[in-house]
Amino acid sequence: MRLLVTGGAGFIGSNFVHQSVRERPDLRVTVLDALTYAGDESSLAPVGDAVTLVHGDVADAPLVDRLVAEADVVVHFAAESHNDNSLSDPWPFVQTNVVGTYTLLEAVRRHGTRYHHISTDEVYGDLELDDPAKFTPETPYNPSSPYSSTKAASDLLVRAWVRSFGVQATISNCSNNYGPFQHVEKFIPRQITNVLDGVRPKLYGTGENVRDWIHVEDHNTAVWAIIERGHIGDTYLIGADGEVDNKTVVELILELMGESPDAYDHVNDRPGHDMRYAIDATKLREELGWTPRYGSFRDGLAATVDWYRANEGWWRPQKDATEAKYAQLGR
Ligand code: NAD
Ligand code: DAU
Repeated sequence: MRLLVTGGAGFIGSNFVHQSVRERPDLRVTVLDALTYAGDESSLAPVGDAVTLVHGDVADAPLVDRLVAEADVVVHFAAESHNDNSLSDPWPFVQTNVVGTYTLLEAVRRHGTRYHHISTDEVYGDLELDDPAKFTPETPYNPSSPYSSTKAASDLLVRAWVRSFGVQATISNCSNNYGPFQHVEKFIPRQITNVLDGVRPKLYGTGENVRDWIHVEDHNTAVWAIIERGHIGDTYLIGADGEVDNKTVVELILELMGESPDAYDHVNDRPGHDMRYAIDATKLREELGWTPRYGSFRDGLAATVDWYRANEGWWRPQKDATEAKYAQLGR
């Protein structure tokens, strides 16, 4: 099988490529990545020559057409992915997440190529803390931020291209990922690398906001289940019942790193900050027989702390610029 992976030099995409090459030696993998601030060629170093990296933009129609023509399956991870950045400057989110997805959809339509679209649970908006409900594939779209609204727009384009043009596509909406190779702008790696630098972790607002954490490897096994056994045109929600509030996550990181669990600071809250996400993955589990490999958030987090301790050479080049951006926002 010839696989085209967009955004394969980013966090989830690079982990997807590592796992795919490790577990499926018959694959031929091409990565298309613009190598923005969030993409790093060195994230693909563990797979060496097994993968071809093309440095380019998903909105570059002639390039995308050529690469799609050479692929059997396209998995579209590339995106602007960080909510805080989308609040400071929404335009790259519209360009990459909406126009980029449109460009890929037109190419897979021309070539009749199988397409899997990676999306987020944030398209559903947020839930109250005391609401027993979780997101299901039937939950109405209600995105809050420029990031989540552009992801919602991209999902709707996919649905329309399936219905109007018969494109062979599936969509997955996953909850918050953690694991190796995640940019230090994101919550968990930011706090781990702060502690490694002797800086106190920063909790937005009260820290009562809840995220539904899933290890990136579990996200990616689910993506393969959908590529292989998913029903064309369907949406699958990916989550591993990992709801934890932000305050507890920070305390756990501090404990795992041998620090006092209250050695953190509260900082300015994110405008429009979603309160809670929670995924009901019944369809994925029952229809496709998927189960997560990572049993415990604590163990996965401890392994992630170890990875950042051992890989300072990977994250150090990102750290100062990231913290300078946060300092301007008082966060
Ligand atoms: P990331 O920011 O770590 O990586 C994004 C990658 O896309 C980078 O390598 C970047 O260089 C590349 N890219 C950006 N713009 C591009 C363009 N115009 N053309 C080609 N490449 C471009 O993001 P991530 O956290 O790995 O997220 C990957 C996907 O998963 C996104 O679609 C995101 O919406 C989705 N998602 C993320 C999470 C999460 O918790 N991180 C959860 C659910 C869904
Ligand atoms: O739910 C899936 C989404 O998860 C993905 O679609 C996004 O691409 C991904 O970035 C993530 O979005 P969040 O906004 O939830 O992730 P982030 O890591 O930015 O923040 C997680 C929580 O931690 C959120 O409630 C904000 C809070 N936070 C974040 C940072 C960076 C802090 O309290 N302190 C921080 O320093």
